[in-house]
Amino acid sequence: MNVAPLPVGLSPLSDAASSLEGEEGARLRERLASVQALVGDELREVEALLARVSAEGPAPGTEAAQHLVLRGGKRVRPTVLLLSAACFGEVTSTARALAVVAELIHSATLLHDDVVDEGDERRGAPTARRVHGNAVSVLAGDLLLVHALRLTEQALPSALADLIQTLGSLVGGEIIQLRGRRELDLSLETYDAVLRGKTASLFSWATRLGARVGGASPADEARLGAFGEGIGVAFQLVDDALDYTSEETGKTLLADLREGKLTLPLVVAAERDPRLAPLLTGIHAGRLEQMDEVRRRVLESGACDEVRRRADEVTERALSALAEVPASPARGLLDALARQLTARRV
Ligand code: IPE
Ligand code: IPE
Ligand code: MG
Ligand code: MG
Repeated sequence: MNVAPLPVGLSPLSDAASSLEGEEGARLRERLASVQALVGDELREVEALLARVSAEGPAPGTEAAQHLVLRGGKRVRPTVLLLSAACFGEVTSTARALAVVAELIHSATLLHDDVVDEGDERRGAPTARRVHGNAVSVLAGDLLLVHALRLTEQALPSALADLIQTLGSLVGGEIIQLRGRRELDLSLETYDAVLRGKTASLFSWATRLGARVGGASPADEARLGAFGEGIGVAFQLVDDALDYTSEETGKTLLADLREGKLTLPLVVAAERDPRLAPLLTGIHAGRLEQMDEVRRRVLESGACDEVRRRADEVTERALSALAEVPASPARGLLDALARQLTARRV
């Protein structure tokens, strides 16, 4: 499939649609454009709500929160939530509020994550922690979490239990990943637990809750949940490959390797190249000058292509779950978006 990278911007769907090429691209463009009309207004409202909510609270917490939130981002989680609702019915104000919740939670985790990972760049700009300091970035993340919980309580109190469980998985995934800093663990099981916890859990919450408020049957809600889980896993797999292959993600290149983060490209490359494990132990011990050699070996091993192949496989499985819900323009767009995300190059 010949698709353009998903750009960082406020209208990812229409931007992506306008840059697709070829016959398949044209079909996809038509589909994307037609359904953009379906949730375009809702996405604009989500933007306005995000701007308003992230301004609530004391400075400098709000300044750090808005530093991140107002720069935009792909807005993937609110988009899939709105489309999941639109698969089954009208997109109500409850769906719009939950879409804001999904992005608030995501933003909170990024504000925290950049402290944990000592991230320097995000969305093509210095991270909030670089501008406002680590302490403010942590508290700004807490502020957004509180906004997210309050908004959920107002919009759909019954969604709180599910959200709390999701937050538990998310934090659990981040903590398991941290263990990798103490000891090198190249097991697939650990990597899978991290990816499902820290990323797929929120995607799955977004698609599941979208379906629920759209009026889906319990069986269809479960299908959308499985779809969200799958695209979340694929999304993180691609993100981890991009850490080695792309210099245009708006984030620091080789950040994962620098911070000793276990990701699938490393796991696969280490299986193929016996020289890698000792080099990684060296990086763990602080010999960062070995990073270039590790990157070269990871790229030469073909591990990133293998990771993308696995992401394609997971996406195909997610798409089969999606194909079981009734056909609609929104379902078509979710399908197109899942393919677009897995094929992204930045
Ligand atoms: C970044 O998420 C964190 C991951 C789960 C890889 P996104 O790639 O969705 O970040 P933004 O919102 O577009 O900046
Ligand atoms: C992002 O994880 C935070 C969560 C998914 C909770 P990463 O640390 O892998 O993502 P980037 O590379 O900083 O965006
Ligand atoms: Mg991290
Ligand atoms: Mg990070």
